[in-house]
Order: sequence, then C-alpha cells, then structure tokens
Amino acid sequence: MSVIPPMPDSRPPGISILARWRRFRRDIFASQPERLYRAQMAELRAPRYRSFTVVQPEVARHVLAEADAFPKSRVLARTLAPLLGRSVFVTNGPEWARGRAIIDPAFSGGRVRQMLPRMREAGERMLQGIAPGVVEVEELTARVTADVILRAMFSRPIDDALAGEVFETFRAYQRVQPLASPIDVMRLPDWLPRRRRGQREAARLRQVMARMLAARTGDEEDMIARLGALSPEALLDNAVMFLLAGHETSASALSWALLCLALDPATQDRVVAEVGTGEIPDFRQLPFTRDVWREVLRLYPPVPMLPRESAASTSLRDRPVRPGDPVILSPWHTGRSERVWDDPHAFDPDRWSRAVPSEAWFPFSAGPRICPGAGFATAEGVLFLAMIVQKWRVEPIEGDLPRPVAHLTVRSADGIRLRFTERVA
Ligand code: HEM
Repeated sequence: MSVIPPMPDSRPPGISILARWRRFRRDIFASQPERLYRAQMAELRAPRYRSFTVVQPEVARHVLAEADAFPKSRVLARTLAPLLGRSVFVTNGPEWARGRAIIDPAFSGGRVRQMLPRMREAGERMLQGIAPGVVEVEELTARVTADVILRAMFSRPIDDALAGEVFETFRAYQRVQPLASPIDVMRLPDWLPRRRRGQREAARLRQVMARMLAARTGDEEDMIARLGALSPEALLDNAVMFLLAGHETSASALSWALLCLALDPATQDRVVAEVGTGEIPDFRQLPFTRDVWREVLRLYPPVPMLPRESAASTSLRDRPVRPGDPVILSPWHTGRSERVWDDPHAFDPDRWSRAVPSEAWFPFSAGPRICPGAGFATAEGVLFLAMIVQKWRVEPIEGDLPRPVAHLTVRSADGIRLRFTERVA
C-alpha cells in the first residue's frame, strides 16, 4: 500500500507576481504554482526579469548535459563565495573541470567502500545517543551526517574538540545564512546586515577548517589525503565545500526517509525483515531498502532546485532564452510530475521494481556536474536507515506532521519529531 506523505501548502493557480514574491520570501516552493506538477516548463515574466523552470525530463537533462551552455548561476556563486571560495561547487568551465579531475578519483566505488567502517562507527555513535520517546530527527541526522564526513574526510570523529568546533561553527553559519534563501537569489546588496553576519560566520568557519587542516600529521588515510594535487588554498575551499555539500543533503534525505517509514509501518516492517538482526550488510545486498531510499529521493530530493543560467541566446521548448536568463531545473517537480509518474505524490517503493521513467529522477543532478558524492551518500543513507530501524520502531506523532520548505535543501518548517520505541528481540 502506498501512503501520501506531507507536501508544501497547496497554492491557488495563477497567483500574481507580487503574491509570488511574497511567497518566495517565505520559501522557494511556496512561489511555485500547483500546476507546475502538470506542466512541461514555466516562464516567469516581469518587466526586467525572465526565468524558466523546466519540468520536462528530456529538456532538464539537456540543460544539465550542456554544462557550458547552461553554467551554474553567478548569483549562487556570489552568495556562496565567502564560504566556498573557488571550489568546484561554484566554478564553471576549465577551472571547474580541473577541480573535478582531482576530486572524482577520491570518490570511486572502491574508495567509498574503504570508508564503510568509518560510516559504521558514526552510525554506532548515533545509536548510543538515542533515548526512547520523542526524537527530533533533523537534529539526529545533522549530527551523524556531519560525523561521517568528518571521519571520512579528516579522520576525526565529531567528539574530537576541533571537529566539534567545525560542526558548531557550521551550525552557526546555517542559522544566519540559510543557503540560497530568497534574499540571495534576488540579488540584494552585500551590506544588508544578514548578509554581513553570513560573511562573518563563513570567515569563522574557514578559519576553524584551516586549523584542522594545519593539524594534520600527513599519516591519515582519508579522503583529504587523496586530494594532494590541490593547492593549499584550493584544498581549504574544497574541504569546506565537502562539509557543506555532503552533510546537509544527506541529513535531509535521512530525515524524510524516517518520516516516510514512520507513516508507512508495513514498509518499515519489510525493511526490518530485509535488514535482519546481525551486522548490516552493504547496500547492494539490501535491494528493498535501496528502493525505499530511491523513492524518498524522488519525493524529497534534498536539493529541490538546480539554478543555471543561459550562456548565450538559445531556445527551450521553442521559447527564446536570452544570455543570462535564469534556467531552473527542479528535481522536486520532475520527480513528482503528473505527466510521467503514476500516483506521483504517493510513497511507493515497489514502483522501483516495475518500469519507472528513470530520466525523470535526478536527485543527484545529471551530466558532467553530477554529484560526485552520490555513491557515498547512498552507502551512508541506506546504512543509517537500516541501523536505526533495526533497533527502533519509528512512529509519527498525532497532529505533528512536518511541512516541507525549500532553501538550498528541503527541510521541515519546524523540525521533524518522531516517536522511537525500542524493538524487543
Ligand atoms: C543524499 C545526499 C546528496 C544529494 C541528494 C546530493 C545532491 C547533489 C546535487 C543535486 C548536486 C548538484 C547541484 C547543482 O549542480 O546545482 C550536488 C553536487 C555536489 N555534491 Fe552532492 N549530494 C549528496 C551528498 C553528497 C556527498 C555525501 C558529497 C561529498 C562527500 C557531495 C558532494 C558534492 C559535490 C562536491 C558537488 C559539486 C559537484 C560539481 O559542481 O561539479 N554530495 N550534489
């Protein structure tokens, strides 16, 4: 049986530009009309502004494949520059390609498998911290996904003083600078107080990260050790990027996965049966749990929108696109498109054992800029999900259903609370 998990507020069709701007200030989804789930593409026209949101899978994949024709948006790069410098997340063209050529080998399948013991240690540490009763799962997942990045990249658990300081400083940054908030997308000036605070916290995080890099002995066998070809400056930029790209995204996916399983006890029971009672096997031996993971990423892609801009005059679906026009891909809307998916808003992991329109599933992006951490994220996500439900029954709390909101990642407007009850053998 499939269940319908929560959606953002439903919106009236055809809202005015002013109403859309007001909603946009609240969160990015709230500015999108409901009809986008049925559309192929939407064009937003204002007197001095035009943007395109692409839903049709083939067109979205074309934009992602043509990374030079549709580079990453300069607005996003400017917002993130105080934090991420010139890391691969924000650069384009040859500079980006040089960075990826160094980073990609560190994420090959074999390299990720070497990190499995560290992922298990982080998972064990997480389990020790859970007490029966109501658990705030966004807190839980934020901590364990940061822990795993710190262990895999820097050989330091989150309980280590310096690593703990990195985590706390990162949290402080997130509080003042929720990523890609509407303020950033709307090109507001740098001297706004909130922007200023964001820049201060970004500088603090980079300082702590620089101290952690300086404290390395050179004997570590971790992912940073494989990035020796980067200059010291590029290493710092990319180290901060890994923390950002690899932690908030995985935390978001794991939180929504726990919610989906809480709302669908029969599916939760099937995961528990597949996982068994012993040591959790590799995700390749957990096909059903992996389908649960895929289905969660379809319904709650942690990065709901991918901002690009057109480098030159072109057209999309026969509409003229000017140089510099924003072109937004939406894993959220394409993943729920009523034109391509059966029962698109339902949580139904079994759909993955039938024929699926897989071109409409790109939670890790696609094309040359596809997420290099996809294999890493899948390994940790399936492992942590399995570890949690093996030990704990998770249930929703009556009257306390989270409402998804979108910044750079999909979060709940007000946390996600679930009831954890210990399973008896
Ligand atoms: C469920 C977890 C994750 C999801 C859904 C996810 C998703 C994505 C997406 C959609 C992008 C492309 C963004 C864009 O082009 O606008 C991206 C880029 C990236 N991700 Fe992930 N990610 C996840 C976990 C990770 C992890 C664990 C790491 C590293 C440890 C990582 C490292 C990166 C990097 C370095 C990029 C930039 C790639 C480039 O621009 O060439 N991600 N990710």
